[in-house]
Amino acid sequence: MIYAVLMWTSRMYLSYNSSMLKIQKQVDLRKHNTLKIAAKAAYFAIIYSKVELQEAYAWAKKKNLPIFVLGGGSNILFSQNIKALVLKNEIKGISVIKETKTAAWLEARSGEWWSTLVHFAVTHNWGGIENLYYVPGTVGAAPVQNIGAYGVELKDTFVSLLAFDLQSGKEKIFTAEECKFAYRDSVFKHKYKGRYFILSVTVKLSKNPKLKLDYGDIKAKLSEQGIKKPNIRQVAEIIRQIRDSKLPNPAVLANAGSFFKNPEISISAFKKLQLRFPEIKFFPSARPEKIKVPAGWLIEQAGFKGKRFGPVGMYENQALILVNYEGASAKQVLAQVRRVQLGVYKKFGLKIEPEVNIIN
Ligand code: EPU
Repeated sequence: MIYAVLMWTSRMYLSYNSSMLKIQKQVDLRKHNTLKIAAKAAYFAIIYSKVELQEAYAWAKKKNLPIFVLGGGSNILFSQNIKALVLKNEIKGISVIKETKTAAWLEARSGEWWSTLVHFAVTHNWGGIENLYYVPGTVGAAPVQNIGAYGVELKDTFVSLLAFDLQSGKEKIFTAEECKFAYRDSVFKHKYKGRYFILSVTVKLSKNPKLKLDYGDIKAKLSEQGIKKPNIRQVAEIIRQIRDSKLPNPAVLANAGSFFKNPEISISAFKKLQLRFPEIKFFPSARPEKIKVPAGWLIEQAGFKGKRFGPVGMYENQALILVNYEGASAKQVLAQVRRVQLGVYKKFGLKIEPEVNIIN
């Protein structure tokens, strides 16, 4: 027991440059994905330092094995076993790399839990990411899908990231422009899918932030609590309350957050739809020629909200969230995905695409 505690503490303080790499065979990934899907990794290692990453990389190269990088597993659906060396990223740490009178630059290592970074910022009273509090997942996963919530996206504060190229073994810095951020999208979902192990992310936070309070749910909570001029901490607390009331905790009910993206359609297509469904909800898109329609609304209208199909279903308080109630297989989840897509298509003629990363 004493040994176990010592091991744990030594892990906590392990430097960026030391190694205790352990590669395991045939590891069940169920506890490494929040949808709790059973899939096996042919090889699996937890990576605590950059040196361990380099060693794992060299090992996989020698065996001619692909590497699959896993963060918090909160936005992923394993549809089959993974014939690769799966690396679970646990490289942690947050540092203030620059500070001026008006701003602070934070560099977070990629295996750090995203909300730990937000907590750190909020505690220091530095603004810009408070609306992203409690978005599940790691810092390294955040740029891959340009995480967003309540009117804020990672790209708004992002400065750069450092990544390890799994092809060449070299490091590369990516600027915001090179990341090609868009709605739940980046270059790491397309051209560079699976190519890089993100090592750290740098964000620039403001000491006098302009808080983003336009989102309907935030406005409602502020007026309910009689708060006129909220501070950063109060906004973070309100975000916690909103998420708590709408989104299921993956530790209690297995899910991967929003399962689908909100479709963006042309203004003319939207107008036609609005004639048929005058109560349709919509938002402006970042692309001026498009309108965003909430997939949660479409799925609810198509009759799926709170309805179970065997072990799966769309959550009763937020129809965009696919829940695995009891030990569903990937097949059963994928059948639900198709069922919902078809239901929405039949009613509205719109195709909704998964936001969750489906691994084939
Ligand atoms: N709506 C319904 N029924 C539902 C769900 C939603 O009618 O069952 C309506 C709501 O009333 C609202 C609109 O749809 O008018 C939008 O709903 P909500 O504000 O809950 O946001 P969302 O578009 O469903 C997006 C993100 C979430 C993020 C929230 C808050 C995507 C795919 N999802 O959801 O992100 O937390 O906005 O900003 O963009 C995630 O990515 O995992 C995630 C949870």
